[in-house]
Amino acid sequence: MPGVDKKGTAKLVLPDGKEATLPVLVGTEDEYAVDIRSLRADSGYITLDSGYMNTGSTTSAITYLDGEKGILRYRGYSIEELAEKSDFVEVSYLLVNGELPTAEQRKTFSNQLTRHSLIHEDMHHFFAGYPPTSHPMAVLSAMVTSLSAYYPDSLDRNSPQELHITRLLSKVRTIAAFSYKKSIGQPLIYPKNSLRYGGNFLHMMFAVPSEEYQVSPVLEKALNQLLILHADHEQNCSTSTVRLVGSSGANVYAAIAGGILALWGPLHGGANQAVIEMLEEIRNSGGDYKKFIDDVKNKRNNRRLMGFGHRVYKNYDPRAKILKAMCDEVLVHLGVKDPLLELAKGMEEVALKDEYFVSKKLYPNVDFYSGIIYRAMGIPTNMFTVMFALGRLPGWIAHWKEMVEDKETKIGRPRQIYAGEKQRKYVPLEARK
Ligand code: CMC
Repeated sequence: MPGVDKKGTAKLVLPDGKEATLPVLVGTEDEYAVDIRSLRADSGYITLDSGYMNTGSTTSAITYLDGEKGILRYRGYSIEELAEKSDFVEVSYLLVNGELPTAEQRKTFSNQLTRHSLIHEDMHHFFAGYPPTSHPMAVLSAMVTSLSAYYPDSLDRNSPQELHITRLLSKVRTIAAFSYKKSIGQPLIYPKNSLRYGGNFLHMMFAVPSEEYQVSPVLEKALNQLLILHADHEQNCSTSTVRLVGSSGANVYAAIAGGILALWGPLHGGANQAVIEMLEEIRNSGGDYKKFIDDVKNKRNNRRLMGFGHRVYKNYDPRAKILKAMCDEVLVHLGVKDPLLELAKGMEEVALKDEYFVSKKLYPNVDFYSGIIYRAMGIPTNMFTVMFALGRLPGWIAHWKEMVEDKETKIGRPRQIYAGEKQRKYVPLEARK
């Protein structure tokens, strides 16, 4: 395991008096782990950890996160520095390949993304088959799975990965924009090679054939920053899904489609849509957010303050900090005044002083402010999770690649503690009561 050292052993005393001696591992940022891989074979015991609260599923060299200190780094570079100085194409290269590209590598990578942006014309019929009310995440996940039908060589694990990776990074953007155009009944706008990655996406989203569309540099910059902030987050629910699906040998398109589906849920990437729906609901019912917070604290109707709390951050999510500042800047630049921003800020202020949120270490996460920026950019609420997927794509791909290249990868297959009936005899239908 590169980057991981052995550091002594830990002893586990079991109820039958047996002792298990387990190796202790330490990573490059001094994170310690007890390696339990031999525990069952040596002692008959497994470990139980619902929701994987305390389970390391892999070693990884992609992203470092310290939830107590609010640190997030991709390949060693801080998220703050990348969001300020880099762009999404460069960050995608960094995540997937491990290093920032040289000028030459950057040019080649950009050209490849530009060249692979079209999807097979036959796939356009799929868009026509969906009802206009379809959620764009349903369309996106199905289309990404469908790409494997157009690139059947992806079913061979030994086919060159690079081409599939380029195709995904380029075509998911096209599919995302097409799914939006389909949902509003406008003609699909083809990608334009003269535009950069973000500008091309905005063009496909907002241009119409009857008019010239000028990409706004403010929107393009905001989009780049939003995508960078979402680009990876180590072993979260969707990334773990990508690794799990991929560990069976399923092709990369299937693995990424699995990640998209896991992201959709409101506890994960779907939270950005849920935040705006929550804020709109509060505003539409009079704006009494203190009453809403009271409902949350008293767990009335199982309400949660969406966009708050995180499994690993027990401090302010560093991405939310950047997004909150971005919200002010972008809205001023665009001349947008959104009452939901004031509402969100008011709720944050109250929550951060409230014992319920303080004692549970619940802070705003990446989804609390991102939706307000997307709204100001003209992106509709049901597209927010698609935007998250577009951003997270290079992270998913980097993890899939790391997993297939890791000689220690095994199929993901957790165990369980069986809690059902003991063996019993089959009862014929006529004898059942
Ligand atoms: N509002 C109110 N209470 C909360 C919230 C919240 N947003 N989040 C957690 N809690 C409470 C929860 O009720 C529980 O209380 P108790 O101990 O009294 O039962 C305690 O805090 C611990 O919560 P948990 O659900 O056991 O924590 P978790 O680590 O399993 O869940 C979470 C993490 C993100 C699912 C959760 O905080 C949540 O549901 N947040 C709202 C949804 C959201 O914003 N999700 C986006 C996460 S960031 C984007 C991403 O990377 O996915």
